[in-house]
Amino acid sequence: MAQKFEIVTLKIDGKDIGARGGETILDVAKENNIWIPALCHLEGLTPVGACRLCIVEIKNYRNPLPACVTKVFEGMDIITHSEKLSHYRRLIMELILSERTHICAVCSVNGYCELQELAQKLGVDNIRFPMLLNRLPVDSSHKRFVRDDNRCILCGRCVRACTEIEGAHTWDFMGRGLNARLTCDLDESWGLSQTCTGCGKCTQVCPTGALIEKGIPPSQRRNKRDFLPYLTKMRKGEEDNE
Ligand code: FES
Repeated sequence: MAQKFEIVTLKIDGKDIGARGGETILDVAKENNIWIPALCHLEGLTPVGACRLCIVEIKNYRNPLPACVTKVFEGMDIITHSEKLSHYRRLIMELILSERTHICAVCSVNGYCELQELAQKLGVDNIRFPMLLNRLPVDSSHKRFVRDDNRCILCGRCVRACTEIEGAHTWDFMGRGLNARLTCDLDESWGLSQTCTGCGKCTQVCPTGALIEKGIPPSQRRNKRDFLPYLTKMRKGEEDNE
């Protein structure tokens, strides 16, 4: 059956681009080899716009909008890189880094951390805010996994992978503001979870050292994300058949 979708024309950084209506700015940028920083976003999981690092400027819009959850429309004029955006992105990154204990030199995923990589790309080499350095408990009660909330940036990738792909919904969020954190089975220790299947998807999508699998070198974590494209393909199939 012929696929039906609306084509929209827009500009990204001055370049004329054609896209499918309903696509997000981030997707369209990727298809056209335009890099926009993104952290909470991971292709294959539902975008939620949690980190705000993917903000872009849109002509006639007063405030920048997150590219991962903003859909393209006809005539859109988007700027992905500007002094203003660099300033905001660095500010956001510094706030993320100052909220928990992100000290790369003593982190088990040093050199294999998406947060670290992105901070370097954005030119963040110091933090202007006092670091909170809360001492949150580390949960190593599970025989295969460790959870360290001190390294968690609340991106929600683990929550989405566990719910949307594994269907277990072991993870969720609890608390608000500075007290927000992950919760396992309504605040149970991981080793006592009644819902965790032990699939390890949460550890494979975690961009930092917050969720890790014991005995697995951090360099191998991202190699095991082969479950992600299936959901993307399935969703695309659903959209195309509508
Ligand atoms: S990647 Fe878009 S808000 Fe995090």
